[in-house]
Amino acid sequence: MGKKAAQRTKRSTAKGGRTAAAKDEPALLSNPFAAPAPPAAIAIFGASGDLTQRKLLPALYNLAAAGLLNESFAVVGVARAELSDSEFRRKIGEDVRTYCTHECDSRLLDWLQRRCYYVSGAFEDQTTFAKLAKVLEQADTRHGTQGNRLYYLATAPRYFAPVVRALDEAGLAREDGEGGSKGRPARRVIVEKPFGTDLESARALNAELASVLREEQIYRIDHYLGKETVQNILVFRFGNGLFEPIWNRQYIDNVEITVAESLGIEGRGGYYDTAGALRDMVPNHLMQLLSLVTMEPPTSFDAEAVREEKAKALRAVQPFTPERVLTHAVRGQYGAGYVDGEDVPAYRSEPKVAPRSSTETYVALEMSVDNWRWADVPFYLRTGKRLKRRVSEIAIQFRRPPLLLFRRTGVEHLARNVLVIRVQPDEGITLSFGAKIPGPNVRMGNVAMDFRYEEHFGSTPSTGYETLLYDCLKGDATLFQRADMVESGWSIVEPLLAVWKALPPRDFPNYAAGTWGPRAGDELLERSGRRWRNPED
Ligand code: BG6
Repeated sequence: MGKKAAQRTKRSTAKGGRTAAAKDEPALLSNPFAAPAPPAAIAIFGASGDLTQRKLLPALYNLAAAGLLNESFAVVGVARAELSDSEFRRKIGEDVRTYCTHECDSRLLDWLQRRCYYVSGAFEDQTTFAKLAKVLEQADTRHGTQGNRLYYLATAPRYFAPVVRALDEAGLAREDGEGGSKGRPARRVIVEKPFGTDLESARALNAELASVLREEQIYRIDHYLGKETVQNILVFRFGNGLFEPIWNRQYIDNVEITVAESLGIEGRGGYYDTAGALRDMVPNHLMQLLSLVTMEPPTSFDAEAVREEKAKALRAVQPFTPERVLTHAVRGQYGAGYVDGEDVPAYRSEPKVAPRSSTETYVALEMSVDNWRWADVPFYLRTGKRLKRRVSEIAIQFRRPPLLLFRRTGVEHLARNVLVIRVQPDEGITLSFGAKIPGPNVRMGNVAMDFRYEEHFGSTPSTGYETLLYDCLKGDATLFQRADMVESGWSIVEPLLAVWKALPPRDFPNYAAGTWGPRAGDELLERSGRRWRNPED
């Protein structure tokens, strides 16, 4: 959804401006920039979970408010808890009101609630799926959803394959006839992360899904691609004449990708202690950012054109040999410290974390993309929990100009031009360059041109899932991962997992919460005379 579109829609809500629709229904707002998604019913597996409460339901409400849901729409929650339809609807009302970042329009919320149904049952039990089939049929009759179904697997990963198999057994998964959904009801499945825990398990899951579904029916989600700033990387690179000609090894010295969190593991010790920072963030979110920065221009915005270029970029990443793991990768774990004005405990003291855990909460990598555009340009990636600040950004560091001209001036050093794409928070883009400090002598200072999303476009109520849900409803897979992309992500980190597993446990903790990570992370850059851009140290 375009931000402007949503903003305008928001304004028109404020004025009470609605378009006409059936008399007994409050009309959905229309959107002047985008058509509503086609009719469909969404079945959410894991309907009582955190993701559904905090993100998916508020996102559906936001889509409705932006005029992007069809009048012919229904939601079916599926979970183990015993709830009636009306209890589920009440809960939806509470969740949307709690987790939407703005005031809700009660008529619109009521519109959404009246389209919500609930099926209680275990995911291992085939009768759950028989009940679901019935409710979906009713939705077709009552709401005109035309047999189009979107199944959202917001469950623990161990249920991904069994739910898809059970859907198939209940006759709910296959799109009838050869050639897919053209003119026939669409059956799509959104698969949440984590998609596997290593290359082998990701391949196995892909194979399981492929035994039931065609690749075009599978939407592997990476919520980083729901972020406007991440989507903008493509538009920024390829929609401007200025940057693409210099977006290569001739002009770029190095690229830093930082996804730093000041939060800890937020009660997710059970999952995190078996995953660690590498699995949790690198094959998915960081590889998405890397591929968007390094990909070649696609020939169109079609899903296949975009995804093929991203996949090629990932295939060009130089594999880590065991030796390179030792020299080009750093892991860390936080000890107790002070973050955002609070004393916080060490990772090992977090609930459900082993007291001698050797799980990493920080990773820094030096990577190379071995193709004509990027050979010899180091890519430094880092991510971690309990770092000094929450900041995700991509810093493109350009080569320094020669100093010759300035030799007889007071200028002793020319700073690099840096283009920073701020993914979050304070979303925007900054280009820094040198300028003459006014005065009789030649002196230089670093200045910046700054674009801030919020200042320019205003803010839009968003959970980050709106575009992804809308795209999936429309059958546009551009922002979703293809099977081979997920496997490439795992292939890249596989040698790290193997070497780290084979080595004796690390001397953890090796950084204090509230710092920028272990010393070794800084040394990764210092050995080539560089240093991390630590925003507003
Ligand atoms: C999730 C990880 O995928 O992404 C979390 O499992 C992490 O550990 C989160 O905190 C970060 O997402 P965001 O959108 O807050 O940057």
